[in-house]
Amino acid sequence: MKIEWDKLGFELLPTKSNIRFRYEDGRWNVGCLFNDYDIKLSIASNCLHYGQTCFEGLKAFCCRDNKVRVFRPQENARRLNSTARYLLMPEFPEDKFVDAVLTLVKDNLDYVPPYGTGGSLYIRPVMFGTTPQIGISPSNEYELIIFASPVGPYYKGGIKPVDAMIADGLDRAAPKGTGHIKVAGNYAASLYPTKCAKDNGCSVALFLDPKNHEYVEEFGTSNFIAITRDGVYATPDSGSVLPSIINKSLIQLAGDLDIPVEVRPIHKSELPEFAEVGGCGTAVVITPVGKIFYKNEVYDYGTAGMGPVLKKLYQTMVGLQYGEIPDDHHWMVDVDK
Ligand SMILES: Cc1ncc(COP(=O)(O)O)c(C=O)c1O
Repeated sequence: MKIEWDKLGFELLPTKSNIRFRYEDGRWNVGCLFNDYDIKLSIASNCLHYGQTCFEGLKAFCCRDNKVRVFRPQENARRLNSTARYLLMPEFPEDKFVDAVLTLVKDNLDYVPPYGTGGSLYIRPVMFGTTPQIGISPSNEYELIIFASPVGPYYKGGIKPVDAMIADGLDRAAPKGTGHIKVAGNYAASLYPTKCAKDNGCSVALFLDPKNHEYVEEFGTSNFIAITRDGVYATPDSGSVLPSIINKSLIQLAGDLDIPVEVRPIHKSELPEFAEVGGCGTAVVITPVGKIFYKNEVYDYGTAGMGPVLKKLYQTMVGLQYGEIPDDHHWMVDVDK
């Protein structure tokens, strides 16, 4: 199949293969590559009724030297296991996870967008309980499937800020619930608040802390980051926010660039004071936020693009992912290791 690299967006484009593992009798099997996208599942499977389903998202890049590398797969392995532990699902060995990702990418090299197109191969691991049951209890059997899809550059026509709306009175997670893990249900819970934001002309919903609705938490699919007027990188410290791998990496890059970092509770009253605001995550690295709407107020961060500090961080991260600047932290894992 001939892929038109410049037409790629963030839609599923099936690739040659996916890799599947099955957990039965207390252990994971060796796994196998499959060429189709279908699974056979009991209608009584746990994942359909009781939601033992979790996932991850990471990317492989064709770098300037034409080698394909994956960004921090070990971190996704760790986060998958932290989700699995909370959902009483079996952990998947981290090294085996990384090997599986590399095997998948190697088998789908033709689908990795070439260097210079701005695209990447998005990798989606999904784990779910398959035991047929009607009583609520953890599943005994599970599948872990890792598939991929080539995706295009997010910023095709230049970097455009998005507007966000605070989902007033709506939460994606409970105070001591599942906000800190990547369980599928969190995303079902954020669909309606996101629709409300979209109905009001905003692309994304911004959530406040679910206990008191006083502190800023995160967007539906990305962490909240801001640059203060003093040039400090600030991001919320909260037990109900997903620990973003890109945020963690940006914090390290900020350190390298002598940008001070504060991971702390961010009260909503600070929102009008920030110089730059963005969302960060695997899909886009950093999305600048132009305006935040909250009740009758609007906080305006400018519509010109990305502010200078977020832009510097964005360019550093993207340069590193495409092998244009040295990978001093050894985050990129060679597919042909
Ligand atoms: C709720 C939420 N927060 C933050 C992120 C960003 O995480 P990461 O940087 O690991 O992609 C994501 C994306 O996975 C997300 O779904």
